[in-house]
Formats: sequence, C-alpha cells, structure tokens
Amino acid sequence: MNLDEYKLMTNAISTNPFGIPIAQTWNQLSTVFDDINRFEITLFVELGVYLGGLSELLLMRQNFYPEFKYLGIEIAKSQIYGRMREHPQIHIGSSFDPAVKDMVSQRICNNVGTVMVYCDNGDKQREMIEYAPLLRKGDYLRSHDYPGETTPEHLVQFAIDFPYMKEIEIEKCHQLGFSLWRRME
Ligand SMILES: C[S@@+](CC[C@H](N)C(=O)[O-])C[C@H]1O[C@@H](n2cnc3c(N)ncnc32)[C@H](O)[C@@H]1O
Repeated sequence: MNLDEYKLMTNAISTNPFGIPIAQTWNQLSTVFDDINRFEITLFVELGVYLGGLSELLLMRQNFYPEFKYLGIEIAKSQIYGRMREHPQIHIGSSFDPAVKDMVSQRICNNVGTVMVYCDNGDKQREMIEYAPLLRKGDYLRSHDYPGETTPEHLVQFAIDFPYMKEIEIEKCHQLGFSLWRRME
C-alpha cells in the first residue's frame, strides 16, 4: 500500500470513539488533542457541535485537567445526541448572533491562558473573519475542511485582510484537511 492509498483508507474510517460519531478523521481528531497539549490551550471553542462527539471527548478532558475548559456553539439543538443535548457547556444559538459572539468574546477576554477557536459550522470562512478579531495575541484559530469549505483563495485573502494572523504548520495541516492560524499581535 502506498502513502496515498493509506491516507484514503484512514480518512474513510469514521470517528466514533464512545458511540457519538465525530465529523473529523482520526488524524484530525488526534491533532485537536495534540494542539491542545502543545499550545497549552485552556479554552477550546467549537463553532458547530453537530452530534456532540467532539464535545464529549473535550468535556472528558476537562474532567482530568480542570484548568482546561470547553465551550460548544450549535444552532440545531435537535441534532445533538441525547446525552449531550442539555449540557450547559453547549450553547444553543448561531455563532453569528451578536449576543453569542459577545458571550464568546467575554469568555476569551476572561480566559487565563491560550484559546483555540475551531471554525466548523456551516460557513467556516465567515467564522474565521468574524472570530479572528475576538482573539488575543497568542490565541489560535483553526478552520476545518481544507480545501473545501475553507478554500485556498479564502486563505490568501484572509492573510491580506488580517495581517495580525499568521498561518502556521501549513503543509501538515493542509495535508490533513484543515488550516491553523495564530494571532501574532
Ligand atoms: C460540520 S458540522 C460540525 C462537526 C463537529 N464539529 C464535529 O467535529 O463533529 C457543522 C455544524 O454546524 C452547525 N451550524 C450551522 N450553522 C451554524 C451557525 N450559524 N451557528 C452554529 N452552528 C451552526 C450545524 O447545525 C452542524 O451541526
């Protein structure tokens, strides 16, 4: 099996560690946890929770590392799995609602340590544009589905429009299907 065949195979395995499917490949999922460890993330904001599988894993992590906090934003409550649906750390609403953005902004401002916002709702490019200004120096922004809903053209324009954001680990992240940015100032 060559490398491309191997990648196709691993990307076809659905991610379902504890019974709630997650819309990330195993490689993408592993990099979420790797990045949280490497960058010492203390607040992870998931924009677009879907079934709640990633939420559940990150909430488990919070049980073991109390300094780490998770916050999910999801517009469609009914699609969240039953055991996650009423969780107080999953906020029901649109990530573009000014009140929701204010709430997330407050959480970011008050957070002790580094924040990562994961743009994974229905309009990831708009989320990048609307959430980059909410970050503080040293915080991270990650956008899913590259190249796809996150297009190469958008990333070029984003770098021009947000000169304080720097795309990092480009080759690895693009290979794995996402884009990762750090706020530099
Ligand atoms: C690709 S799924 C998220 C996958 C999830 N992050 C995971 O890893 O399993 C996109 C989700 O975004 C939600 N969504 C769409 N528009 C939204 C919005 N404006 N605000 C919040 N959530 C939204 C959809 O209902 C859907 O559940």
